[in-house]
Amino acid sequence: MKRIVVTGGAGFIGSCYVRYALKTYPELHVITVDKLTYAGNLDNLKEVDQKRHTFVKADIADAAAMEKAMEGCDAVVNFAADSHVDRSIMEASDFIATNVRGVHNILEAAKKLGTARILLVSTDEVYGSIEKGSFKETDALNPRNPYSASKAGGELLGMSYFHTFNSPVIVTRGSNTYGPFQYPEKVMPLFITNAIDDQPLPLYGDGKNVRDWLFVEDHARGIDHALRHGAPGNIYNIAGENERENVVLTHRILKEVGKGTDLIKPVKDRVGHDRRYSIDSHKLKALGWEPKMNWDEGVALTAKWYKDNEWWWRPIKDGSFKEYYKRQYEDREKA
Ligand code: NAD
Ligand code: TYD
Repeated sequence: MKRIVVTGGAGFIGSCYVRYALKTYPELHVITVDKLTYAGNLDNLKEVDQKRHTFVKADIADAAAMEKAMEGCDAVVNFAADSHVDRSIMEASDFIATNVRGVHNILEAAKKLGTARILLVSTDEVYGSIEKGSFKETDALNPRNPYSASKAGGELLGMSYFHTFNSPVIVTRGSNTYGPFQYPEKVMPLFITNAIDDQPLPLYGDGKNVRDWLFVEDHARGIDHALRHGAPGNIYNIAGENERENVVLTHRILKEVGKGTDLIKPVKDRVGHDRRYSIDSHKLKALGWEPKMNWDEGVALTAKWYKDNEWWWRPIKDGSFKEYYKRQYEDREKA
């Protein structure tokens, strides 16, 4: 592969992927296409070799822009999405526009141009909640919030293009991802930055919901592995193999930031809150990928990054995020 388009490359996982791909493949040219929504940030791409990187500000739902960006490319890797469950509960229309219609538009552009690989980055949330055991790629989908339903819609469209038009679509379903450059609406960076500022950590419900934590570089590597070694028409789970109750995660963060448990503030639960996510990634492991980051080290490294990089997150938290935070947490805290 010489030239690839990465959509959503100014976001958290997408930017890690761009950094990883340019570092790993010296001949590669990456074209990042990103709309720069509230979650997109060009600071995330500061350290990439700009001689082999082109940035295009565009919406994946813009057919002409996508066709132009994808022309002459060997692959498109789609990270672009509205990605936060709580926001999808507030208002889901952007989620449908990007995660379903936007993906459809990429599939159409790829069909027209004959793009050799289309990788759609999806999520373990499409399976829904599981009490015991772990979901395999062959299990039925049961998305239970507007975000995960929109992601399921996008990937189902992708698979339908494989079956109907022979489009070379590969889907990955990753676990909850953490690491540097994650927008502070998600639990890990929210709790780390709140703890740094001695602000309460709003823990939903009984705090016993379980998430599987995957370090961002392991996720980026897994996506790249599926892109290069996976087969079209296939789906690959990417697990971190680090399942933790939210309350355990919260204690671990507090310990790392050096703050007391008095900061934990139990608040009203998320509506429709999935209890546990768990996936089995033997299929991708059989192709030679495995997660490398150890949990304790990953949390320590992530907390340190937020401590050392206030220049990155403080303007976000002092800006429009404040309004969102008030809307999202004010009533919850009263409950
Ligand atoms: P993010 O919210 O940090 O970044 C999303 C990026 O997409 C931003 O740069 C944003 O500007 C861009 N974008 C949004 N709408 C767009 C549009 N219409 N056109 C062009 N660009 C647009 O998200 P993330 O956490 O990096 O997630 C990346 C992908 O990985 C998403 O598809 C998400 O569903 C998936 N995923 C995320 C996680 C996780 O824990 N964060 C886990 C599994 C899968
Ligand atoms: P989140 O980071 O939003 O990811 P997702 O909903 O996609 O799994 O949330 C991770 C877990 O943390 C989830 O069980 C909800 C919980 N959570 C809180 O307890 N408090 C918070 O303020 C947030 C944002 C999440």
